[in-house]
Amino acid sequence: MPNTISGFSKLSKTEKIEWLLDTYFTDKDSARNLVQRYWNSDEKLQKLHDEFIENTITNYYLPLGVAPNFLINETFYTIPMAIEESSVIAAASKAAKFWLERGGFKAEVLSTEKIGQVHFIYKGDYGKLEAFFNHVKPKLISETASMTKSMERRGGGILNIELRNKSQDLPNYYQLHATFETLDAMGANFINSCLEQFATTFKTEAEQFEHFNAEEKNISMVMSILSNYVPQCLVRAEVSCEVEELKSKDIPNPEAFVNKFKQAVTIAEVEPYRAVTHNKGIMNGIDAVVLATGNDFRAVEAGVHAYAAKDGQYSSLTHCSVDNGIFKFWIEIPLALGTVGGLTNLHPLVKFSLEMLQKPTAKDLMKIVAVAGLAQNFGALKSLTTTGIQEGHMKMHLMNILNQFEATEDEKAKLIEHFKTTVVTHSAVVEEIGKLRA
Ligand code: MEV
Repeated sequence: MPNTISGFSKLSKTEKIEWLLDTYFTDKDSARNLVQRYWNSDEKLQKLHDEFIENTITNYYLPLGVAPNFLINETFYTIPMAIEESSVIAAASKAAKFWLERGGFKAEVLSTEKIGQVHFIYKGDYGKLEAFFNHVKPKLISETASMTKSMERRGGGILNIELRNKSQDLPNYYQLHATFETLDAMGANFINSCLEQFATTFKTEAEQFEHFNAEEKNISMVMSILSNYVPQCLVRAEVSCEVEELKSKDIPNPEAFVNKFKQAVTIAEVEPYRAVTHNKGIMNGIDAVVLATGNDFRAVEAGVHAYAAKDGQYSSLTHCSVDNGIFKFWIEIPLALGTVGGLTNLHPLVKFSLEMLQKPTAKDLMKIVAVAGLAQNFGALKSLTTTGIQEGHMKMHLMNILNQFEATEDEKAKLIEHFKTTVVTHSAVVEEIGKLRA
């Protein structure tokens, strides 16, 4: 079998790279050179990154930018964002400034409960299973004592364990559905360790439960894992002001602006095709902060989108009202985040980002992330319902086009000046570069 290899993970980094070069690349020298150019010259730092994952060959850079001037519950923040999309930070910064002049953002954490489940198959009488669960529940808790001790000392731990009968959905399928408070930790390792211990205790005790017959004693534990759907780990962020206060250079007629803005939100509430793009724009802000602060953006994405579909149809995560001359725009989302543990203690830029955010608690970070999502959505809707999105997008994209054409610093300066007053399109930029170089 060409292009397959066994024992790859045991090769040294250099050997791995050489295998890749031999197998896939024609110009091996330039491919090797590229991979090596992205190594960090600080060997200790490079080793740290090498050891985050298996089979590291080099680093993959994303820009880390900042959006200043966020006023959240009377505290000023400069928000770190790791993202490649050119217009995201500009839009966030613009929205921050806009709301800074109108009272800033208000945010509150509504709940902080995390969830984990042990999925199992039991063939037998449900009444007996319930009796067994009640009998074993104190032991499920006591046998995790060594894991929960330090979390409990800080005020967290296991909140509850329930037996759930899912046999209507799948024959003989049941769950231990557990809830947790993990404080400033995202809590994945804590929750998964507790769940695996629940499963062991449950299985062992079932084998000895005197009221079970032989088949009932033979419970099959399928898997133990946290859920990334956390509808009880919720944060809400909001902006509001009098409609008249929205008047600005971009919004000459606030009344007309709010009407269209509200229509845009309502369309995303009722129309899934639009809701997905609307929420994608929100995630532009959310993912960028989640990534910069060393959190798991895949977990956040999965949980947020499930929440957007919680009423049976995928819908907008933001909402808008205009009542008695007051414009209100808000977001409510589930966010399981950590500011201790995981990458937060390891990645130097994550530590830097958290320090910039004034060492937030997990609850503080939930508010900051929700605000970043709301600001991003405000910026997108404001553009979409007024000038259209391309004007701003293409302005920000200009630098990417110039880089594609390997423009010199002098050419860049001249073309940026030129496009301050001219519409940016790919062909217009190509034409101008051509003229400059002619
Ligand atoms: C682009 O990354 C995000 C937008 O499409 C979001 C939106 O349409 O609301 C501009």
